[in-house]
Amino acid sequence: MFLLREAAFVDSREKILVIDDELAPRESIRMVLKDQYTVSTATGAFEGMDLLNENPVDLVVMDIKMPRMDGITALQEIKKLHPDIEVILLTAYASLETARDAIRFGAFDYLIKPFDKDDVLLVVEKGLKKRRDNTGLKLERDILLDRASYLEEQVTKARGNIMTCYEGTVNALILTIDAKDHYTYNHSNRVAKLSSLLAKELAVPDKMIKEIVNAASIHDIGKIGIEENILKKNGKLTLDEYTEIKKHPAIGARIVQSVPFLEDAIPVILHHHERYDGKGYPNGITGEQIPLSARIVMVADAVDAMMSARPYRDALTINKVLSELQENAGTQFDPEITNVILKERVSLV
Ligand SMILES: [Fe+2]
Repeated sequence: MFLLREAAFVDSREKILVIDDELAPRESIRMVLKDQYTVSTATGAFEGMDLLNENPVDLVVMDIKMPRMDGITALQEIKKLHPDIEVILLTAYASLETARDAIRFGAFDYLIKPFDKDDVLLVVEKGLKKRRDNTGLKLERDILLDRASYLEEQVTKARGNIMTCYEGTVNALILTIDAKDHYTYNHSNRVAKLSSLLAKELAVPDKMIKEIVNAASIHDIGKIGIEENILKKNGKLTLDEYTEIKKHPAIGARIVQSVPFLEDAIPVILHHHERYDGKGYPNGITGEQIPLSARIVMVADAVDAMMSARPYRDALTINKVLSELQENAGTQFDPEITNVILKERVSLV
């Protein structure tokens, strides 16, 4: 019961502080405003500012001419400490110029003594409306800022989850290749490194380099669909076996197709055996029809294969690899990419 009665007395009216050293104008303003607003009074600027610090109000009505601290100085102090509080100054006609100057220091308006009751109510109401609008806008802005930072946080979290998923999936595929064919696993890692160096020299954007590195690490993923006896055969492949091996780019692309965030790797996986002259597989496309990422991985793949010792042949010397690149530039390889190696912008040693 007591609480209910207390609650009924909570004053939700807007608060106004009247500061004037002279009793008559201070009291008459208070009388005009007291029915609609909660009005407190102070007899000078210092007392007024002490009251504001203890209990901020919505609006201050203050005389300009006061002893110790004048209204213009007090106005600047109030605006510094409480920029949201609107201030209306009281002035005699003689200091009208000063009142106009005060507007420049942030006063909302001024009233000329002797003042009319309706003018006081009108100017005070306008000042309070401005304060309400500003508070509303500030609140809306704060809500929007809160919302924006929450969404940003969620996007960062989601992006982190996708990256974890992406890296986890790429690693799982790399380990799958390793389990099936250890040579291909090591080879793919080296191809990824060389592809990255070539792409950097070709001024490929950073984001695309990352995609190329990931794609190169799994470019032969389709080999998990090829019979082991063909994959690990030491001797020369028969025509049928070669036809079988040539299926690995399409098999790889099919595997990766089912993982939406790995779709950037598909062009490399599908086209890393296309030749620049169109005599490659699976589609026989030529030149710039072949995605740049696939042309880069194609060169890196061939270089690493030539530099690796296999059970059926020794590794080629660097000089032999370079002459193979020179000889096949423009037919098997994109000449712009082989040039990066031939002009020693990327070293194979
Ligand atoms: Fe391959």
